[in-house]
Amino acid sequence: MVTLIKLCEQTDFQEKICFRVLHPEDDKKSIVVIKGQNGFYAYENVCPHFSVQLDYKDGVFSTYKNKLIMCAHHSAMFDITTGECVDGPCKGHYLKAVPIDVKDSVVFLKR
Ligand code: FES
Repeated sequence: MVTLIKLCEQTDFQEKICFRVLHPEDDKKSIVVIKGQNGFYAYENVCPHFSVQLDYKDGVFSTYKNKLIMCAHHSAMFDITTGECVDGPCKGHYLKAVPIDVKDSVVFLKR
């Protein structure tokens, strides 16, 4: 049986494409939910380079052309649709994807 846990709503993305939420199962972690051109993506907010958060200040992420998200620490660039680092010190490594579902404008963590 699949359990859905609410992460955020589409209205949380009015002026930005990334939204950070606490991990509902571990409050020491956070998740970055990204609104892409063709849907939503979610990853653990942990850079595979040094295992630190991607945002440069709380909940503020650098993105490029709605296609890439950049780690604030050493500028690794990740494809928002796959989580793959396409440039930077951890090139070829991936952000850890978080399974989600979107229903009625709400993004859920899928368990
Ligand atoms: S910690 Fe993210 S690029 Fe180094």
